[in-house]
Amino acid sequence: MSILITNIGELVTNDPAPGRDGGSLGIIRDAAVLVDDGLVSWVGSGGDAAAHAEASGTELVDAGGRALIPGFVDTHTHLVFGGDRAEEFAARMAGRPYEAGGIRSTVAATRAAGDDELRARLAGFVAELHAQGTTTFEIKSGYGLSVRDEERLVRLAREVTDEVTFLGAHVVPFEYREDPALGDGAADAYVDLVVGEMLTACAPHARWIDAFCERGAFTPEQSRRVLEAGAAAGLGVRVHGNQLGEGGGVRLAVELGAASVDHCTYLSDADVAALAAGDTVATLLPGVEFSTRQPYPDARRLLAAGVTVALASDCNPGSSFTSSMPFCIAVAVRDMGMTPAEALWASTAGGAAALRRTDVGAIRPGARADLVLLDAPSHVHLAYRPGVPLVARTWKDGALVA
Ligand code: NIG
Ligand code: FE
Repeated sequence: MSILITNIGELVTNDPAPGRDGGSLGIIRDAAVLVDDGLVSWVGSGGDAAAHAEASGTELVDAGGRALIPGFVDTHTHLVFGGDRAEEFAARMAGRPYEAGGIRSTVAATRAAGDDELRARLAGFVAELHAQGTTTFEIKSGYGLSVRDEERLVRLAREVTDEVTFLGAHVVPFEYREDPALGDGAADAYVDLVVGEMLTACAPHARWIDAFCERGAFTPEQSRRVLEAGAAAGLGVRVHGNQLGEGGGVRLAVELGAASVDHCTYLSDADVAALAAGDTVATLLPGVEFSTRQPYPDARRLLAAGVTVALASDCNPGSSFTSSMPFCIAVAVRDMGMTPAEALWASTAGGAAALRRTDVGAIRPGARADLVLLDAPSHVHLAYRPGVPLVARTWKDGALVA
C-alpha cells in the first residue's frame, strides 16, 4: 500500500541536509513524500514526484500547498484514571495552591472504576490525541498505588501504546499514610512494596520506570531506590523532578542516565550544568504551569546551555488536563522563550530523543510514516493561531487515524 503526498508547501523533515532550510527542522518547500507499507520511502521536491506516482495502487493526496510535519511525540501522560478534578481546578483559579496530595482523590476514583470504564475513557483520549496530531504517546500508571491496581493500569495502557511507564512511586497512598503503626516510616514501607511485589507485577507490561521526586511525594533517596530497582528489572529510567521546588530530582536523573527528567520548572545553575553535561533530555510541560499558575520553566536558559529540550502535555486530571501538543507549543513560544521552530522540534524530534527512539519524530526514508497535514501554510501557525484546530489529517504508520 503506497501513498504519494504532493503539493506540500512546507515539509518539516527534522532531517537537516544540504539545500534545506529551517535549521534543524530541515524544511523542503514544494515537496512530496512517498509512503510504502507504513514507512516513509522517499522525500523530495514536487518536481521529482511524478516518477514515484506511476506504481499502480498508489493513493495520491494533494496537500494543497499546506504544511506537513512529523506526528507529535507526547512523552508524558497519565491517561488511565477515573473521575476528574474540575472542582479542584476551579478552586485553584480562585487562589488555592496546587499540591501533590490531590493525586489521592484520583486514586480513589480510579480504584473504583472497572477495566471497561477505564478502557473506554482511554479510547476517547487516544482519539483526542490523534485528532490533535499526536502519533506516539507515553502513558504512566500512578493512580492505582496497590499491586492489583497498578498492574491494571499498566496492562490497560499497554493495550494502546508500547510506551508504558510504571509510576507506582507517584505518592504514598492513603492506607499507608494513615496507618498509625507506620508513622514516619509510611513512605519507606510503601517503597518496599513498589520495588518488590508491585514492580514484579508491572514490569512485564512496561518499558519505563518513573518516580515523583518532590516535596510531598518521594525524597531523592526513596526515588533512587525505586529507579534502581526498575533499572535492575530491565526498565529504562524517567523522573518527575523539580516541579514544585529545586529538590534533587534533576541531578538524580542525570546521575542514573535517565532518558528524560520531566517538569524542570525550578532549576539551579548546578542542575542546568548537569543536564548540559549528561544525555538526559529535559522535558518541559507547559500545561502544568498554565493550570497551576506556577512560573513557566525557562526553556531559553536550557537551550542556551546546550540541553536537549522536549515538550509534552502531561495530560492528567490534576495539574494539566490538556492532550493538545499545539496548545503546549503555543504556550512554550509565548511564555517560555522558544521560537516556533524550536517548539515544534521539541514536540517531535525532542520527544523521540526523550523516548530514545529513532523511528519517529522525523520524516525521512525508513522512518515510520507518522505524518500531520496542517490546515496552514507553515508550522509557525501552530503558535501564531493558538486554540485554532489546525490539524487537517493525521497518519500513523501510514494509516489515516484522524
Ligand atoms: O506530572 N507531578 C506529578 N504527577 C502529575 C500530577 C498528577 C495529579 O495532580 O494528579 C504531574 O503533574
Ligand atoms: Fe506527570
